[in-house]
Amino acid sequence: RDEPLVLGIETSCDETGIGIVRGRTLLSNTIASSMDEHARYGGVVPEVAARAHLEALQPAIEAAVADAGIRLEDLDAVAVTSGPGLAGALMVGVGAAKALAVSLDKPLYAVNHLVGHIAADLLTGEEVEYPTVALLVSGGHTSLLLVRDLVSDVEMLGETMDDAAGEAFDKIARILGLPYPGGPEIDRVAATGNPEAIRFPRGLSRASDMATRRYDFSFSGLKTAVARWVEQHEADGVDIADVAASFREAVVDVLVTKALDACARHDVPRLLLGGGVIANRRLRDVALERAAAAGVAVRIPPLSLCTDNGAMIAALASELIRGGRPASTLDFGADSTLPV
Ligand code: KG4
Ligand code: ZN
Repeated sequence: RDEPLVLGIETSCDETGIGIVRGRTLLSNTIASSMDEHARYGGVVPEVAARAHLEALQPAIEAAVADAGIRLEDLDAVAVTSGPGLAGALMVGVGAAKALAVSLDKPLYAVNHLVGHIAADLLTGEEVEYPTVALLVSGGHTSLLLVRDLVSDVEMLGETMDDAAGEAFDKIARILGLPYPGGPEIDRVAATGNPEAIRFPRGLSRASDMATRRYDFSFSGLKTAVARWVEQHEADGVDIADVAASFREAVVDVLVTKALDACARHDVPRLLLGGGVIANRRLRDVALERAAAAGVAVRIPPLSLCTDNGAMIAALASELIRGGRPASTLDFGADSTLPV
């Protein structure tokens, strides 16, 4: 068939993702995570992640190829995340992708990780429409983007100025004595708590903030407020369910408020959600509820496509090929702050 067969390599954080797609059809999505190795540090350690990618890549490629039932020689192109992300981790993927492309004599596409998250939506098999606003929330990023065209027009509306949303969950979990990764733990504990028990700050989410500071996020004030509250109430016993629920409510409120404000300001009735924090039940519920009230349609791809993966990288390259974009020349490097 004339749909391009593409293998995508994703190593920007702690997931070694290999994905294979034909056009917009998902053939394989193989993930090896070094999450367990980071658990005792309470967060992703860049050096540990890079070493883990080096060990996981070859077996992951073999597994994906077997899973997809293809031969490497049949590929039309190789794709790789060249940024943004952890520099050392990215370099391992970029090096492997270049070696693979050169040895197979196939074109290589260097793609942006965040735009890859948006491309994941193409693999759901449902019809995708643009423009859309996209909210990407994970352990590595918190980004709000305006997508007018996936291949040629993606605009960054706002990013976190300090911690990523997932990182904030992980750090608060640590303060509350919960294990890493903290997101699922906070979610679990918050289920029995009162989200209105404590009014924690919602950073940069007043209308004036959104008007003047674009749509950037900040979670450091919230983190400090939770830490201080726990410290001040330690003596009389802290109900961690209430703290977790109130913290989660503050994060969710900020994320959804800003995403929907961006939809309204740009007159875009669509919102795409992505990133590992989308696993958060409360975030999904609040987003769906408030979006419905605002007349905004929400898309949430399956979680396996929301968390970091290689299939989204392959899907993006496949769109670039369909759009007639030339392949990358082999002199590109890893760019930890690559803009969209
Ligand atoms: O996209 P992802 O799998 O990978 C990286 O960022 O590398 O996201 C992982 C992040 C972690 O910070 C984790 O705590 C957070 O997503 N997370 C959650 C939930 N599940 C995972 N955060 C909030 N609620 C959850 N249910
Ligand atoms: Zn990501």
